[in-house]
Amino acid sequence: MAAFDVVIRGGQVATAADLFTADIGIKDGRITALGHELAKGDEEHDARGKLITPGGIDAHCHIDQKSSFGVPGADDFFTGTRSAACGGTTTVLSFAAQHKGMSLRQVVKDYHALATPKAVIDYGFHLIISDPTEQVLGQELPALIKDGYTSFKIYMTYDLLKLNDREILEVFSLARREGAFVMVHAENHDTIAWLSQKLLDAGHKAPKFHEVSRPQPVEREATHRAITFAELIDVPILIVHVSGREAIDQIRWAQSRGLKIFAETCPQYLFLSAEDLDQPGFEGAKCMCSPPPRDKANQPYVWRGLETDVLNIISSDHAPYRYSDAENGKLRGAQDGFKKVPNGVPGLEVRMPLLFSEGVGKGRIDIHRFVAITATTPAKLYGLAPRKGSVAVGADADLVIWDTDKQVTISQDLLHDAMDYTPYQGITVTGWPAVTLSRGEAVWRDGKFLGKPGRGKFLPRALSPMVKPRGQFWSGFDPNSGRYTG
Ligand code: URP
Ligand code: ZN
Ligand code: ZN
Repeated sequence: MAAFDVVIRGGQVATAADLFTADIGIKDGRITALGHELAKGDEEHDARGKLITPGGIDAHCHIDQKSSFGVPGADDFFTGTRSAACGGTTTVLSFAAQHKGMSLRQVVKDYHALATPKAVIDYGFHLIISDPTEQVLGQELPALIKDGYTSFKIYMTYDLLKLNDREILEVFSLARREGAFVMVHAENHDTIAWLSQKLLDAGHKAPKFHEVSRPQPVEREATHRAITFAELIDVPILIVHVSGREAIDQIRWAQSRGLKIFAETCPQYLFLSAEDLDQPGFEGAKCMCSPPPRDKANQPYVWRGLETDVLNIISSDHAPYRYSDAENGKLRGAQDGFKKVPNGVPGLEVRMPLLFSEGVGKGRIDIHRFVAITATTPAKLYGLAPRKGSVAVGADADLVIWDTDKQVTISQDLLHDAMDYTPYQGITVTGWPAVTLSRGEAVWRDGKFLGKPGRGKFLPRALSPMVKPRGQFWSGFDPNSGRYTG
């Protein structure tokens, strides 16, 4: 019997901290040895001259989820996770979305039923809390946190999802008490509603007015408000899909005061701009997401935020709505205007190659930062470390062997999701995964998808040590003592 199930020979291994040449020995899906001239494996990959990184962790994607209007997304857990694997992602954190009136426990059961038979790679669920009733906050949520659903997203906008300030404070204080992690969609709802109405009343229905209705100050104000509440309650939070310099400035300010405010951005804020929403016909809808992409001059600020760790992770926010589907796609807004367009863009498959090519390849970030923001930090923040997110003895063998010279012009017909377009069509990248291994098994190799539906495993997650309250400035409000206590 061979010493290893799989050996990857002689690759250059990059982690968030180190770069070294080693053989990687894998047994039962885990890395059991890093060394030189390891004994033979049943299966061998020759990685001499090739770069190896941890498989990507995409900590924000919407798979088999309905929009707040009830519009179903294009991808199920097979097509969504297949496309992730083909682009070098080995773990997804998708959402189990509560809509008003739903039991959270039932929501979680329903999403497991969708994912279990279909997922190709490992997955976990964040919860979306849209109805924070006493039952939800008092019983369901604390029990679910103990069962490994240790993070949840709340919305400050969208009619059917948004929480008011008081509800946000309730959710933050529960998170502090339970040690859970809150992700915040920060945009000011009433301002968006007011601006949208004025635009539509004046006959401005085109996709480009989506950006006009959600300008940067709308995001800046909500980001500041969320930070303020987090400071009062003394709870770490993460601002999701940060789009631009106005919100980045708020986050940097908070971090410089010692507050534990984390932040995520997405490829759409590095590679798309408001100009992409202004295309002939209704085509601009292909790039409509919330917050929207900003002006081109904004893109270097987002890169800088990633480089300097103001922005800590990059996720796709994959929210796939086909274009040419008049009922469930972007075109459903063609008649009545931008407010009817389901928000979101796809990106699971291209997140890693885009970042690798334009980030590492063009010298905007180094390889260690690339690994940190695509894998290691999401693993730490969301309670997946040390099993996921690095190359270490004992960790799952979730790895990417890169073909760093391969040039690919991104085109929808090369991708493996269920979409009919990609907003990144025509962008040429240098570097693409040659092999993606999930727990040692090649799920993508030399241009072929090899994974099987149902092989992906659910990942119950631990509480993250990174989201412990700081215990300074304002500390948690304690109604019993009537004080802010440490
Ligand atoms: O436009 C976006 N981002 N749609 C997906 C839902 C969300 O807000 O994350
Ligand atoms: Zn959001
Ligand atoms: Zn999202």
